[in-house]
Amino acid sequence: MATDKIRELQDLRQTVSQGGGEKRIKRQHEAGKLTARERLALLFDENSFVEIDAFVKHRCTELGMKDVEAPGEGVVTGYGTVDGKLVYAFAQDFTVIGGSLGEMHAKKICKVMDMALKMGAPLVGINDSGGARIQEGVDALSGYGNIFYRNTIASGVIPQISVVMGPCAGGAVYSPALTDFVFMVDKTSQMFITGPQVIKAVTGEDVTFEELGGAMTHNQISGVAHFINDNEEECINEIKRLLSFLPSNNMEGVPVFECDDDLNRIEDMLNEIVPDNPNKAYDMKEVIRAIADNGDFMEVQPYYAMNIITGFVRLNGKSIGIIANQPKVLAGCLDINASDKGGRFIRTCDAFNIPVLTLVDVPGFLPGTNQEHGGIIRHGAKMLYAYSEATVPKVTLIVRKSYGGAYLAMCSRDMGADQVFAWPTAEIAVMGPDGAANIIFKKEIESADDPVAVRNEKIQEYKDKFANPYVAAERGYVDDVIEPALTRQRLISAFDMLESKRETRPMKKHGNLPV
Ligand code: HXC
Repeated sequence: MATDKIRELQDLRQTVSQGGGEKRIKRQHEAGKLTARERLALLFDENSFVEIDAFVKHRCTELGMKDVEAPGEGVVTGYGTVDGKLVYAFAQDFTVIGGSLGEMHAKKICKVMDMALKMGAPLVGINDSGGARIQEGVDALSGYGNIFYRNTIASGVIPQISVVMGPCAGGAVYSPALTDFVFMVDKTSQMFITGPQVIKAVTGEDVTFEELGGAMTHNQISGVAHFINDNEEECINEIKRLLSFLPSNNMEGVPVFECDDDLNRIEDMLNEIVPDNPNKAYDMKEVIRAIADNGDFMEVQPYYAMNIITGFVRLNGKSIGIIANQPKVLAGCLDINASDKGGRFIRTCDAFNIPVLTLVDVPGFLPGTNQEHGGIIRHGAKMLYAYSEATVPKVTLIVRKSYGGAYLAMCSRDMGADQVFAWPTAEIAVMGPDGAANIIFKKEIESADDPVAVRNEKIQEYKDKFANPYVAAERGYVDDVIEPALTRQRLISAFDMLESKRETRPMKKHGNLPV
C-alpha cells in the first residue's frame, strides 16, 4: 500500500517535470530556447534547487479549460543557492499553455515573492509567456496586479532580477519594468505592450516583433532592458555575475571577495590618457578598467545613452557602482536619456548599500530644443535628486571637464560627495572657456580692431584662470589633486576610510523624485 502511494507521488512528480510534453519541449528547443527547468538547473548550484507548489492546478472551467491539464500550472517556482547564496526564482514554462498566467500560476509566483521578501533574498523571475491566460479573464488580470504590487513592495528591499527569454507581452511587461534589472536574449525575447498586428490596425505602421520589442531595441533605444546576451547559457552566467556584486537585501553590506590585485598598483598609462587637446576624446572605460580589481567591469546598460557609463567594479574586493561620463559619445554631455540612466543607477546602488564612484568629464547639459522640450529640466533633476538622496559613500574624481550645472549633477561636494579628487587635467568652472569669454568680454571683443585675436586672448586668459583644479581645491571643493597613475590606491584608501559612514535623512513617507 505504502509502495503504491510512493509510486503515485513519483508518477505525479514525473508528469509535472515533463511540463507540456516531448513535442512542445522539442519546439521550445528548436526555437533556440531552453525549458523552464533547464534554465533553473543552470542558474542554481548543482542539486540545490528545491521546487515548491509542483502540484498546483488551475481552477478554470471556462472556454474548454475544464479538462485541460497544465502540469505545474505553467510555472516552476522555488529556491536554492547561487554561488552559495540563497536565491528565490520562478520560471514560466512556455510548453504549458504558452506559459500563460492565470490565477493559480500567479499565486505560485506571489508565494515565492513573499518568501524572498521575508527571508531577505534576491528574486530571479524568468519570463516566457503569452501573457494573461485569456480563458481566465479578470482572474488573470488580478494575478498580474498581485505580482506588480509585490514587485513594488519588494523594491529597494531585495534585489529583483527579471529575465525575458521569450515573449513578454501586454501588461505583463510591467513586472520586469518594476524590478531592478532586466536581462534579454538576442533574437528570442520580446517585450511590448501592443503587438505588431494591433499597431498595424491602429496606426498603420509596419513593424516586426524584433524591431518593435526585441532585445537590442530595449537595450539600445527604449532603455527598458539592462543587459543583452547572445544565448541563454551566457545570460544565466551574467545573472550570476550580477548577483555576485549585490547584497541579499537592503540590510546587508556588499559581498566581500578576497582581492588578489595589488591595492597600490600604479597605472602609468593614466598619466597619459587625457589628450592635451581638450576637444579630443578618449575612452573612459579604459580609466575604469585600469582602476578596478583585475580590470573587471560589469557594465550596466552598455548600449543605452552611451554618453554616460554605469556599472559595477570591485575595489579591494568590495562592490562599487560607477557613474562616468564618456567623452567618446556626445563629448560626454548629459542629456535626457543619460540623466534617466544615471539617476536610476545611483538609486539602485544607494538602495543596496553599494558605494558610488563618479568619474567626471562633462562639458555640460546637451543644448537644443529637443532636449528642452523633452524635459531635460525634470530629467536632469533626477541626477541631482539621486545623488543628494544617496547616503552610501560617494567619491568623485574629476578627470577633465566639469562645467556648470553638470558639475553639480555629477556629484560635486555640494551634492554630498564625501571625497572629491581631481586630476591635474581637471577644468572646473561655470562654463567652458569659449562661451565664457564671449559673454564676459563681449564689449572688448566687439570694439576691438581685431576681434578674433582679442577673443582668443580672452579665452586663453579665462583658461589660465579656471581650466584647472586648483581654484576649486583652494576653496576645499576638491579635497586633493592626485597624480592619475596613483588613482587606484587613492580610491581604495578613500572607500576603505568611508566604510563606516552613517548618514541619516529626516523622516518622511517618501520623497517626490522628479519623473
Ligand atoms: C491562453 C495561450 C496564450 C494566452 C498562448 N497560449 N498565449 N493560451 N492565453 N495568453 C497558448 C496557445 O493557444 C498555444 O496553445 C500555446 O499557448 C503556445 O502558443 P502558440 O501561439 O502556439 O505559440 P507561438 O506560435 O510561439 O506564439 C506565441 C505568442 C502567441 C506570440 C505568445 O501565442 C500569442 O500571440 N499569444 C497571445 C498573446 C496575447 O495577446 N496575450 C494577452 C496579452 S494581454 P496550444 O494548445 O495550441 O499549444 C495581457 C494583459 C495583461 O497579457 C494585463 C496585465 C495588467
